[in-house]
Amino acid sequence: MDKIIVHGGATLNGSVRISGSKNSALPILAAALLTKEECIISRVPDLSDIHYMLTILSELGCEVERASGTVTVKAEKVVTNAPYDIVRKMRASVCILGPLLGREKEATVSLPGGCIIGDRPIDLHLRGFEALGAAVLVQAGNVKVLAPRLRGATINLQGKFGSTVLGTGNVMMAAVLADGTTVIDGAAEEPEVEDLANFLIKMGAKIEGAGTRRIIVEGVKELHGAEHAVIPDRIEAGTFLVAAAIIGKEVTVNRVDPRHLKALLDPLARAGFEIATTSNSVTLKTGGVRHPLKLETQPYPGFPTDMQAQLCALLATTEGISAITENVFPQRYMHVAELKRMGAHIELEGATAVITGVPKLSGAPVMASDLRASAALLLAGLRAEGTTEINRVYHIDRGYESIDDKLNSLGAQIERVKA
Ligand code: EPZ
Repeated sequence: MDKIIVHGGATLNGSVRISGSKNSALPILAAALLTKEECIISRVPDLSDIHYMLTILSELGCEVERASGTVTVKAEKVVTNAPYDIVRKMRASVCILGPLLGREKEATVSLPGGCIIGDRPIDLHLRGFEALGAAVLVQAGNVKVLAPRLRGATINLQGKFGSTVLGTGNVMMAAVLADGTTVIDGAAEEPEVEDLANFLIKMGAKIEGAGTRRIIVEGVKELHGAEHAVIPDRIEAGTFLVAAAIIGKEVTVNRVDPRHLKALLDPLARAGFEIATTSNSVTLKTGGVRHPLKLETQPYPGFPTDMQAQLCALLATTEGISAITENVFPQRYMHVAELKRMGAHIELEGATAVITGVPKLSGAPVMASDLRASAALLLAGLRAEGTTEINRVYHIDRGYESIDDKLNSLGAQIERVKA
């Protein structure tokens, strides 16, 4: 397994181009299952999670081609049972259920197990499918959904941790070919849900309200092929802005939509960083007095859980007492133990991390775990004195396209060691 060696202390300056959004591309690629015609999706990032999804689509019978950032998918004839050994590697593969149910009226995938950030149930997805008239069978670790026909329904997707992003996409993709009107209340408002809806509308679906808590879907008979460019990755952009805050002078992220970053830019400004935006870029400048923060993760448009670990890395060296409460995945603190090995003072009190800023961190060998925790350790290593060695780098490669090259282009000193 590759590892990344970070030589701390190098100041970041300059600009970097952000890739297309992983969390938008994954359900959009799955949505191509809803038509026999060719779909062309561009700005698809080169990530192992995307590779897994393309492999699943191929195994389901799709013709899949990739030419740099553009993927062509043609689902002329498909089977409805996804292969366990790939599905188990990526929970997001659950988002093939909705389109297969919509098109073939049945689908089977292995139940996503838990993962390092916590239990990953899909009860809300299944609640939506049942409301549309599907039967749900759980057997031998698989979940099978099937329906003689799908009828529009009113569904509420609010769970105890808020709504469900992939669940909203899944139910929307099943509803687009149902008979009649479906109302999804308590829908996830993430930009990635809105991007998926925009792709489905290009395919001929009738959807209103995506990006709000109430989505209305008017079922149609069939969908046709479409072309679509995936929105920029707001979490990748946020990760680079936090890297700049940790050890930058002036860094610009290009090809972003600043409207998707508001919940991150506001706390970074409160923390003392100078933020400037244009229609497609954000620049962060350091130099002012830094302040500790009190943050709570929330579903969009609140502060994103996918940025929680990165903020822990920043606040670890921000003088004063900070606190972050994780309301979406309360166990998502795998990075804390590793940051403490680098000298951070962080105490967990339930789902709250209380962070006492220290003047410096020390490089150390650390273990990557989930995707964003791994990015946080990399960011901490940028500032730490000495060298930080991050093992199990495949976690980072799941969600960040060439993060080491991009950071090095800003002045970082990172080596990737092939194991
Ligand atoms: C998406 O996961 C993202 N992944 C996650 O990003 C992100 O952290 C998450 O949304 C929250 O924003 C993709 O889009 C591929 P949820 P998703 O269903 O849809 C509970 C990353 O780092 N829940 O919105 O799987 C769930 O346990 C990844 O890129 C139920 O209880 O998340 C969690 O506590 C990590 N029942 C909360 O809701 C359900 O049926 C939010 O989960 C579904 C979810």
